[in-house]
Amino acid sequence: MKFFIDTANLEQIKEAQDLGVLDGVTTNPSLMAKEGITGHQNIIDHYVKICKIVDGDVSAEVISTDFKGMIKEGEALSKLHPQIVVKIPMILEGVKAIKYFSNKSIKTNCTLVFSVGQALIAAKAGATYVSPFIGRLDDVSTDGLNLISEIVTVYENYGFKTQILAASIRHTMHIIDCAKIGADVMTGPLSSIKGLLKHPLTDIGLEKFLADFKKGN
Ligand code: E4P
Repeated sequence: MKFFIDTANLEQIKEAQDLGVLDGVTTNPSLMAKEGITGHQNIIDHYVKICKIVDGDVSAEVISTDFKGMIKEGEALSKLHPQIVVKIPMILEGVKAIKYFSNKSIKTNCTLVFSVGQALIAAKAGATYVSPFIGRLDDVSTDGLNLISEIVTVYENYGFKTQILAASIRHTMHIIDCAKIGADVMTGPLSSIKGLLKHPLTDIGLEKFLADFKKGN
């Protein structure tokens, strides 16, 4: 399972990278705004900064909602750095854009996916990643993990190469459940990743080992 961090915060990206388990980064316009990154050039510069910190794929989202605009933006984004993946919303024009980029071997991440049908068409169009938003589904009383499970089944049925990127991860158990189901990638906050390594028995056990070591020295 690949681990992506879902933030535009450079400190958190560095911390995750230093942990040694990071495979990439996802961003979106809201995450950029949260870090105070506004204006076209600042956002572009920020993508490059992120690419310099991490080794893996970095999703950069288009703002256009028409085919021509998405192509223009996506081509410019993909030229910024070899690690850039063009993030495209699951709308009709977006599907056409995904197909266009797929034909050109430019990586895409189909975002804002909330149904199996959307995931199916993203795969048919040749998306590199499909991003079902599980937390946002949970927010409206719909089982986000069930969507991941259904997409896994459909993709396995037909051998689609599109990687299932479980997005809108809110906490550590989301990661564990997605891993059990077989999501290819998860993207979540740093706290959800760090939560994986915590266990009180580890801390208690270590404290005892260190105390016992001291007794003998
Ligand atoms: C995915 O790529 C999105 O950036 C993200 O996971 C959305 O998460 P949220 O629902 O917590 O905003």
